[in-house]
Amino acid sequence: MQEPSGDIRGERTDAVESRPDGSESRRGFLEHAAGVTMAGGLTAGYGMLVSHAVRFLYPSETDPGSWQFVCTLDDLQPGDSMPFTTPAGAKLVVARQAEDPAQDDAFIALSSVCPHLGCKVHWEANNERFFCPCHNGAFDAQGNPIAGPPKAAGQSLTRFPLRIEGNLLMVWVPGTGISEVISETNA
Ligand code: FES
Repeated sequence: MQEPSGDIRGERTDAVESRPDGSESRRGFLEHAAGVTMAGGLTAGYGMLVSHAVRFLYPSETDPGSWQFVCTLDDLQPGDSMPFTTPAGAKLVVARQAEDPAQDDAFIALSSVCPHLGCKVHWEANNERFFCPCHNGAFDAQGNPIAGPPKAAGQSLTRFPLRIEGNLLMVWVPGTGISEVISETNA
């Protein structure tokens, strides 16, 4: 009796993967489709990863900030101050330091968070200064440090731009971070 020649598994494999007319077998087609699907998934995954990385490194500037209503000019008499919280939660103190609203710095808006350790700063009209009671830190009418730990460290209060529209006092608040206020103030 004649022994079968060759590897039976190999012959079966060949029989499944190729046809006499050269067309692709069903198994070959499925393997090809799986490969294409896997490659597509990897490409999509890496594409999303790259997209997130680019957005992190180069954030969009679609929300640079906006002007927010603070009060009417009559609401803030000379020597008065009032707290203001931005939509993003930053705490400010807005003070009126002159009778004539057209005078430079008649109004000023500063962060009410002490740059030393974060206590609340308030305006003292009699002393014409902003004062932090935690460690006797003090700032002049423009928010520059004049006493206590903030002076030793050269820490000023962050200033927010103001403008008057008719009888309304408006303050510029950043959309994404306080650094934009600092850069605009220094511009
Ligand atoms: S927290 Fe304001 S002086 Fe220390």
